[in-house]
Amino acid sequence: MSLRVWLAGATGWAGSELARGIAKSPDLTLVAAISRTHAGRVLGDVLGEPSLDCRVHASAADALSEPCDVFVEYTRPESAKVHVLTALAHGAHVVVGTSGLTADDFAEIDAVAVEHARGVLAAGNFSLTAVLLLKCAELAARILPQWEIIDYAHDDKVDAPSGTARELAERLSKVRQPTPTIPIDQTVGPRDARGATVSGSQIHSLRLPGFVISAEVLFGMPDQRLSIRHDSGTSSVPYVDGALLAIRKVSTLVGVHRGLDAVLDLG
Ligand SMILES: NC(=O)c1ccc[n+]([C@@H]2O[C@H](COP(=O)([O-])OP(=O)(O)OC[C@H]3O[C@@H](n4cnc5c(N)ncnc54)[C@H](OP(=O)(O)O)[C@@H]3O)[C@@H](O)[C@H]2O)c1
Repeated sequence: MSLRVWLAGATGWAGSELARGIAKSPDLTLVAAISRTHAGRVLGDVLGEPSLDCRVHASAADALSEPCDVFVEYTRPESAKVHVLTALAHGAHVVVGTSGLTADDFAEIDAVAVEHARGVLAAGNFSLTAVLLLKCAELAARILPQWEIIDYAHDDKVDAPSGTARELAERLSKVRQPTPTIPIDQTVGPRDARGATVSGSQIHSLRLPGFVISAEVLFGMPDQRLSIRHDSGTSSVPYVDGALLAIRKVSTLVGVHRGLDAVLDLG
């Protein structure tokens, strides 16, 4: 029996590629799409993909007449939390690709997911090389006590830091807190020059034309340093395989889990 999926943001840059990936997956069926602009239309007509015969709705609340096993959120930070809470209340497991949700948002979502015995798998970046950035950085932080994060993105990305950078900082904070030689609040000059402190890590966000999405963590030791960096190209193809895996596996979880490695066997 195929998994019934709703996809919020199905007409967007990331969501439309995922919709095409779902269309090619015999074990998954897209039963509802969400986009305000195209509400009332058939998704296949919008994307030029005839096999996608589901309706587009303006919000998760508008789609409640449709059955749903897994809800995928790929819209904007300001609409994501309401969509996710609506889907959990409807009995769905949830995959979150949207960036910009805070640790407090996830704490609230976790409480609702646990109450309904549903899984939420949230990844700031579903690409496999991004997952390996997180895992390799966690390993390095066990040995190296000082690091900072650089978050690169295109100039019109509205949220900062990126989901990938935020997730990296949150994951590293569970290994240890970095120990800058000069504490950040003792900076001489504008404090902002040292970046934003997120879960104890300094994150420096660049937003410039010519960049797509990259995340880099730099570890420094006396007279030596290590950089671990993930770069993605201009298409949204890198995110499809990881998101499909998340859709297939999220029902094995209860509560919020961060990062695709929650369902990958990385040892
Ligand atoms: N986790 C990952 O691997 C990954 C990869 C790529 C992107 N992302 C993140 O995914 C999110 C979407 O990125 P994108 O580049 O695909 O954006 P995008 O091209 O702007 O697409 C956004 C989609 O969400 C819909 N949408 C926006 N606001 C909405 C609302 N209030 N209610 C209902 N639908 C709404 C849009 O349709 P309408 O405007 O018609 O409503 C559109 O379908 C961002 O947060 C981005 O950072 C994550």
